[in-house]
This record gives sequence, C-alpha cells and structure tokens, in this order.
Amino acid sequence: MCGWSRKVAGPISLCWLILLLPPVKFHETNMQKPLQIGILGATGMVGQRFIQLLEHHPWFEVAWLAASDRSSGKRFGDAVRWKLDTQLPRRIADMQVSPAEPAGAPKVIFAALDADIARELEPKFAAAGCAVVSNSSAFRMHPDVPLVIPEVNAEHLHLIEEQSWRKQSGGFIVTNPNCSAIGLVMALRPVEERFGIEAIFVTTMQAVSGAGYPGVASLDILGNVVPYIKNEEEKMEEETLKLLGRFDGHAVRPLAAKMSAHCNRVAVEDGHTESVSIKLRTQATKAEILTAWKEFAPLAGQQLPSAPPQPVEWVEADDRPQPRLDRMRGNGMAATVGRLRPCGLLDWKFTVVSHNTIRGAAGAAVLNAELLLSLGKLEPTLDRTMTGTSA
Ligand SMILES: NC(=O)c1ccc[n+]([C@@H]2O[C@H](COP(=O)([O-])OP(=O)(O)OC[C@H]3O[C@@H](n4cnc5c(N)ncnc54)[C@H](OP(=O)(O)O)[C@@H]3O)[C@@H](O)[C@H]2O)c1
Repeated sequence: MCGWSRKVAGPISLCWLILLLPPVKFHETNMQKPLQIGILGATGMVGQRFIQLLEHHPWFEVAWLAASDRSSGKRFGDAVRWKLDTQLPRRIADMQVSPAEPAGAPKVIFAALDADIARELEPKFAAAGCAVVSNSSAFRMHPDVPLVIPEVNAEHLHLIEEQSWRKQSGGFIVTNPNCSAIGLVMALRPVEERFGIEAIFVTTMQAVSGAGYPGVASLDILGNVVPYIKNEEEKMEEETLKLLGRFDGHAVRPLAAKMSAHCNRVAVEDGHTESVSIKLRTQATKAEILTAWKEFAPLAGQQLPSAPPQPVEWVEADDRPQPRLDRMRGNGMAATVGRLRPCGLLDWKFTVVSHNTIRGAAGAAVLNAELLLSLGKLEPTLDRTMTGTSA
C-alpha cells in the first residue's frame, strides 16, 4: 500500500500523481475477505444503485443499511420501493434497516442523503472515525473536503489530511460531484490539460431519476421540459471550476475560467445530456481534441474495478450521443462525447451524455472508495473492521 505523504511541497499535476501511485496491490493480497461497508440512505434512488453496484464487488461487501425513521427497524425488502431493472438481492432484502447513527456501523460509509440531512449526519459519522464517501452537495464546496473524480483530480484527496475529523478520530468526508457536473468535467479535463479553457457554456437536459424518488410529478414532466432545477446551475458552475482546479499543497485553486450553466429537467428516465461550448486558451484542431479524448486514460494500470477502460468515449454518428443508447457505455461509468464542431460564439461545441445515478452518483462514489483503498486511506478502517471493532 502507498505511503502517501501528508503534505506536498508544491502543486502536483495529475500526471505526476499517477506516476507516484503504486500499482494497486490490495486485490492481489487481501482478497480473502472484502471490506465491510454501510449505506446511509439505502432506500433512495442512489442507495439502490449502491446496492446494485456493490453486489459481487470484489473489494466491498454491504454489511449495514440505514435510512430514515420511516424505514428503520424494518426488513429492507419491506422498506424499499425497488426501482431498478435487476432483482433486489435476497441477502439484502432480508437485512434489517438500522437507525442512521454511527454506533454499530462499519467504518466505511457510502452516503446517499439529501443535502440538509447529510449536513447533520455525515459529520457525526466522520467524527466517529468513519470514512464517509458522500453523494450529497452538503460539503462539496467546503475548502477542506475533496470533491473528486478519480480520472480528473485524484490529487485533491490530500485535503483529507486537513479535516478536523481526520486529526481527531481518523474519520473524513470525501465527495463526488453533482450528476451533471461529472460528465461535463470528464469531457473537459483532457482538453483543459492540453489547451487550457477560458470559458464554458453548457445547457443540460437532465433525467427525472436525478430528482430522486418519487421526484418530479408526472403531470409536470410528461410531454414537457422544466427549465429550472433548484440550485443546480450554481452547483454546476462552482463544482466544475473546483474539480478542474489545482491543489497547491494546502488548498484547491479553482480553474480561472468563465462559466455559465442552464439546467433543464426533461422526460428521460436515466442519463443526462449536455450541449457544451468552450473557448480555449490555445487553439486546437478537431483532430487534436479527438486525440486528447482518446488518449485520456489516467487510471490505466491501477486496476480499480469500477474504472472504465476508456473514460471519455467518442461516438461518430451525427445524431449521437443519446441517453438511451449511450448511457451504459463503460458499464455506465464513461462519458460519451459526440458532435464536435466549431462554435460561432466560442471555439468548439459538442454534446456529452453520462449516466446520472451510476457515473453521476453511486458509481462515482464506489470508484472514489476504490481509489482511497488503493492509496491506503482506508487501511486503519480495514484493520478495525477486520478485528470487529465498531464505532
Ligand atoms: N439521483 C441522482 O441522480 C443523484 C445524483 C447525484 C447526487 N445525488 C444526491 O444523492 C443524494 C440522494 O439522492 P436520491 O436521489 O437517492 O434521493 P432519494 O431517492 O430521495 O433518497 C433519500 C434517502 O435518504 C433517506 N433519508 C431521508 N431522510 C432521512 C433521515 N432523516 N435520516 C436518514 N435517512 C434519511 C431516505 O430514507 P427513507 O426511504 O426511509 O425516507 C432515502 O433512503 C442527494 O443528496 C442527491 O442530491 C443524486
């Protein structure tokens, strides 16, 4: 496992970080017993995706499920309204839903709570020594909390060491971005690395599953477009610039670019589509941008189970990408780009599609946890879990 230094002397580029990362050894040496994890908000849309993605996961095993008082104490199969197109695993259905408290919970927690509830509960778990891998927006913009996409800004994980919970109990919070920011940033990162980006203009067409369950009323969304998602444009704008920012050894300096987002809810079940225009710092040809996307493979060789082999997939056809046809590329973990063409206002424009509850939520958190484990950041947790010590 990696002996990762607590502070670095200066900015670390992603390329350097990848050179510093050792090959992932965990799954070669410790595969006899997967690490036990818990899910907070297990009955929700994202919680259900966690259960689906973690069934048969080689490193993690679901050992604890928690939700609100409405569900606590019930058999999970009776508490959940299962909405996915795979069967609810029998073992999970028979588990009892626990109260959302750290006592008795495993030391690695995947959290899928609404932001207001996350703001109250996630610090309690971190203070109790848990690694909280969160989906919610509650702490994404906190200066000491890493907002991470492993292919984009793994070096931001150094921020964990700045957190008071980490210093006191070993616990910490790591977050993944908003479901529409993630596809956008995956597409932008390879371009920004090579050519720099001065301005970003994006219009989203976001699936209804992004609003959780039951989400938007059918009478509001059927045959309709709703041009407003509360706080979404603000989240997209600030998160994108933080994700593309540089870690300077102490803090993240956001990307110095202008950005404008328009966010819309559309009558699509899963998969967010985004129309993007960008202004570059250095001019690039279409072929050079396509090459940047094609060669973008920062996790190659790390053997993280959920990492897609090609994080940004290019699709050639004039009418692609489309959410129904392209959201499951890379097992739902890739961002699919297409329609790259000159923009009359900025330099280039294109379309990107990504799966909002897989790459945009549960899959993103699982990949973050895989990266943390490969870096040795879950090791103390692992030791405690293996010896049966609870919070
Ligand atoms: N859906 C997406 O595409 C997506 C993408 C990225 C991020 N996110 C974020 O992920 C989080 C979860 O979203 P979601 O779509 O899964 O929401 P959801 O379907 O509404 O699920 C919310 C979950 O939180 C639980 N909960 C509610 N109040 C609670 C309380 N007081 N204590 C403990 N648990 C409580 C619910 O349990 P009960 O069933 O018992 O009420 C349920 O399990 C949100 O912050 C959301 O913004 C969602």
